[in-house]
Amino acid sequence: MLSVPFLKVILREIFSSGRVERITEPDLVMDDPEKVLAYTRAGREDGVMAPVYLFHAAHVCDLINPGETVVDLACGPATQLGLIARLNPEINFIGVDLSQPMLDKADAYINEQKLLNVKTVKDNIAELAKFEDNSVDAVFSTMALHHLPDQSALKETFSAIKRILKPGGGVYLADFARLKSAKSINYFAYQYADRQPELFTLDYYYSLNAAFSLRDFNEAKKQLPTHVNFYKLFLLPFMVAFKSNPRRQCIPDSLMNTLRNIENQLPGHHKVDIKDLKETFRLGGLKTDLLQ
Ligand SMILES: C[S@@+](CC[C@H](N)C(=O)[O-])C[C@H]1O[C@@H](n2cnc3c(N)ncnc32)[C@H](O)[C@@H]1O
Repeated sequence: MLSVPFLKVILREIFSSGRVERITEPDLVMDDPEKVLAYTRAGREDGVMAPVYLFHAAHVCDLINPGETVVDLACGPATQLGLIARLNPEINFIGVDLSQPMLDKADAYINEQKLLNVKTVKDNIAELAKFEDNSVDAVFSTMALHHLPDQSALKETFSAIKRILKPGGGVYLADFARLKSAKSINYFAYQYADRQPELFTLDYYYSLNAAFSLRDFNEAKKQLPTHVNFYKLFLLPFMVAFKSNPRRQCIPDSLMNTLRNIENQLPGHHKVDIKDLKETFRLGGLKTDLLQ
């Protein structure tokens, strides 16, 4: 059952004609140690991001195969990357970020988790200068594109993805899209303020303001390989995903069981979050068989 405030947001977004202007992130590259710590803490296994990380992990697992090389663009503290790498020990992962403090957090986490299949590289995702043409089997990126300074950088990032990807390679890119009204942004930014550190709430607020519009994404999509599709949440498209067709040759039962066990063990409020995310993306056309 939808709450009255949530219904109001839906109606406001459907019937608003304007759209708030984009406000770029105060920290494009996240290297303020306090913010890095707040983001890292809120993201770890039991943090507020747990259902979102699980959702994205399942979609990425649809696209990758044993023996392949897979790149996480703007990996941050590697919480998302660590989860995907743990689920796929026979795949090699490279996390890319431009912030040294984030890469330090990522490396510490990778060591702590004893993930031998992950390394990190400092690089700008709009250039990917450290990667050869046609050299990687798949790329993914979660909740990071809104850190790019402008639409040109978004297009450059998509071109760089196409350049480094082998033909038919896997692509999964998920991020926020800009809501139409400032009131709706406030509603989502402060929705879970009582469950998370204040700095993380503020970070979410900045992210929603910095999100690209659907038009920006549609325009930039022309730079991606043609086998990548664009999806958005049904009715309230404040999250979007680009996903290529599934290319995993064999889904082991163990992978499916592990993902479903993690889902079953989420606390009640996170179960509601992942159910909403799955359902609203499913109505927008994005599905995976790896979650219940
Ligand atoms: C909100 S964090 C997302 C981290 C991670 N993908 C996740 O889902 O938790 C955004 C990250 O993008 C990085 N970043 C911003 N601009 C970048 C760029 N041009 N190239 C590489 N990394 C960048 C920031 O340093 C930060 O670590």
